[in-house]
This record gives sequence, C-alpha cells and structure tokens, in this order.
Amino acid sequence: MASLTYADYLQLDKLLSMQEPRTSNTADREVVLAEHFFIVAHQASEIWLKQIIVDLLAATDALRPDYGNPDANLSVEYLDRVSSLMGLLHDQLVALEKMPLRHFAEFRPHLGTASGAQSQQFHQLDDLLGNDERPDGLFAAFEGYVAAQGMSVGTVCRLGASTGVLHRVAEALIDIGNGFWRWKIAHLGMISAMLGEQPGTAGSSGAGYIASRIHLPFPELRRLRGEVHQALVPSGTPT
Ligand code: HEM
Repeated sequence: MASLTYADYLQLDKLLSMQEPRTSNTADREVVLAEHFFIVAHQASEIWLKQIIVDLLAATDALRPDYGNPDANLSVEYLDRVSSLMGLLHDQLVALEKMPLRHFAEFRPHLGTASGAQSQQFHQLDDLLGNDERPDGLFAAFEGYVAAQGMSVGTVCRLGASTGVLHRVAEALIDIGNGFWRWKIAHLGMISAMLGEQPGTAGSSGAGYIASRIHLPFPELRRLRGEVHQALVPSGTPT
C-alpha cells in the first residue's frame, strides 16, 4: 500500500483548486491576482470560522452537566484557542487592506450580489457570542457552572484570580468578545476605505449599515464587571 502523502492527507488537490478568480480570462494579471487575494482571504476566514465555532460549542459543552462531568479547565483550553483564532481572523482582514483599490474596483462587478452578509458561519458565531437582543448560550453555560459551585458570576468578577479557573473562563470570554469586536471594527474600516459611501453587494448602505451592526458580546458579563466598582466604593464616598 502506498504511504500516505502530505497532499493526500490534506486533500490539497481539492483545496488548492478552489481559488478561481472570475476575471481570469478577461482582466490584466494584477486584477486577477487581486481577486485571487480577495478569494483566499475569504476562504481562509471561513475555514477559521469553522474551527472557532466547533471550539466554542465544545467550550460550552464542557461547562454543562449534560455531557458528563463539567470541566472548566477543558473549557478554558478551547476558549484560549478561540481567542488566538480571533486574532488570526482580524489579521487576515488587515492583510486584505493591501489589495489595491483600483484592482478591487475592477473585479467587484463580478461579485454580483454575493456578500459576506450571507456568511452562515458568521451569523452562527454572532449567535453563540450573543448581544443585547439575544442571551448567549456560552455565557448561560458559564453562569450555570458558577452557580453549581455555589457562587455567582458577580462574585467571580469581584474576587478575581482567587476564584481560579472560574476567573480564567470569565477573562477568556472578555478576550474573545473583544477580539470579535476588533474584527468588526477592522471590517468597518476596510469597507469605509474601499467603498466610501457606496452600497454593499447585498444592497445594504455599506459602511453605515455595518457600523449599526457592531455590538460588544457578553453585555451581562460586562455589566457585572462594572458592579465591582460599586462594591468597592466605601460608604459615604460620592460616586
Ligand atoms: C474589500 C474587502 C471587503 C469589503 C469592501 C466588504 C464589504 C462588506 C459590506 C458592504 C457588507 C454589508 C453587506 C452588503 O451590503 O454587502 C459586508 C458584510 C459582511 N462581510 Fe465584508 N467586506 C470585505 C471583506 C470581508 C472579509 C475578508 C470577510 C471575511 C469573511 C467579510 C465578511 C463579512 C461578513 C461576515 C459580513 C456580514 C456582517 C454583519 O452582518 O454584521 N468581509 N461586507
């Protein structure tokens, strides 16, 4: 039996045949290369989103009793990985800023109505992290885990590092939420630089619409962190 190769294991034939600029037969080389760059940045982002979602689901499951003994240390391992991956997603967006505007303008009509707004994985991630309108599964699982230890998330915020792994989960959630927010801000900066006031390919107003969609994940955890200040104010001190 032939030994397994790197290319076979990673299915590179398939993977590397999927970057097909629509301008390849019609435009100058620099435009085709810019479109290639645009496709790679989006495909790579979708692959990392896939890993982020499975890791977040595993981190949530590790905090719930439905899947055996909850294990917050295991959850932190997944959450720390997600934190790093959020940084990668962000950096890919920053790299894409090196795509020349004039080349983008030339291949953009070929996108038709295709838009990142149709990214199912992105919306799934948004749901997992939650915002003011949707309580998030991950934070709810953390609250449940903390309650099972006879504590509240507010106490974890107040006592900090002395609560051990509970503190590490809370910190990881903030890291992930802020990492996602940084991605959204970088995306807005990119849209504004690349489109000005032009509408998006999905028909939205573009930068204005994207600005309205930016929320900080884990609002309840942030509120509880804020309460730490109140708890520490000595009585009689004006706030
Ligand atoms: C030149 C680069 C980019 C431009 C000009 C751009 C532009 C836009 C615009 C205008 C929208 C609003 C929807 C619409 O009307 O089309 C949008 C949404 C979106 N784009 Fe991008 N985008 C860029 C790069 C990326 C990259 C690299 C990703 C990575 C996957 C991405 C993912 C998304 C997602 C997930 C949404 C939906 C966001 C939400 O609903 O809050 N975009 N993009």
